Amino acid sequence: MRKYNFSLSGVILLTGLIVGGCTGAGGNDQGTEYAPNMYHSVAYEPLIQITDESAGMWVNSSENPAVGEYYSSNPNNPYGMNMREPVANTVRRGDFIPYRIPKDSFELAERILSNPFDSTAAVVKSGKELYLKFCLHCHGIDGQTPGKVGERFAGVVSYTSAAVINKGEGHLFHVITFGKGRMGPHASQLSVKERWEIVRYVQILQQQ
Ligand code: HEC
Repeated sequence: MRKYNFSLSGVILLTGLIVGGCTGAGGNDQGTEYAPNMYHSVAYEPLIQITDESAGMWVNSSENPAVGEYYSSNPNNPYGMNMREPVANTVRRGDFIPYRIPKDSFELAERILSNPFDSTAAVVKSGKELYLKFCLHCHGIDGQTPGKVGERFAGVVSYTSAAVINKGEGHLFHVITFGKGRMGPHASQLSVKERWEIVRYVQILQQQ
C-alpha cells in the first residue's frame, strides 16, 4: 500500500502558495492567477486580423517570443482576416437572398419588382443569347410564332398578345422564375441577373 508522507516543509510551502496566491486580490486586481489564458481569451474574430503585436504577450507560447501569441494569427490571408481565403468560385451570401414572392402572386411581383439592369448593349446581348438557349424552342425567334417545341407544346402564348403585351417587367421576371400554367420554372437554370437580362430582351421583342 502506498503511504503519503506530509513533511512539514511541504505543508508550509503549500500554505504559502495558497495564501500568497490570494494576496493582492481586491478591486480590479485579481491577484496571481493560475493559467490566465483560461480566463482571458483573446477573441478570435474571423473577419478581422489582430494587428496589435503585443496582444497575447502575457500568455505567450508562440515560437517568436517578440510577437504576441494572437498577433497576425493568419498571415496567409491577404485581406487582413483571420479566416482562410474563400476557395475559388465561392458564391457570395448576398446572392442567396430568398425570393419570397409566392408563386401565384403575379400582381404583387409586377408592383414591387423592378429591373436593376439598364437596357445597355451588353445586357441586351446577354439577354438575347440566353433567350435563344432557354426560350426560343417554345416561344420562337420573335416571341410571337411558336418554335419547334412550341409547335407541339400546346398553349404557348405570344409576347404581343393582349394578355401579355402590357404586363410589367416584374410580371415577366416572375413568370420566368416560377413558370406559369404549362410553362415550367427557370429559377434553377438562370441566375437572378440572367433572368432580368432576358426580361430586357423580351421587352424588345414585344416592341416589334
Ligand atoms: C416548354 C416550353 C416553354 C419554355 C421553354 C418557355 N416557355 Fe414561356 N410559356 C410557355 C407556355 C405554354 C406559356 C403559357 C402559360 C399559360 O398557360 O399561361 C408561356 C408563357 C410565357 C409568358 C406569358 C405569361 C403570361 O403572363 O401569360 C412569358 C412572358 C413567357 N412565357 C416567357 C418565357 C421566357 C422568357 C422563357 C425563357 C426563359 C420561356 N417563357 C420559356 C412555354 C414555355
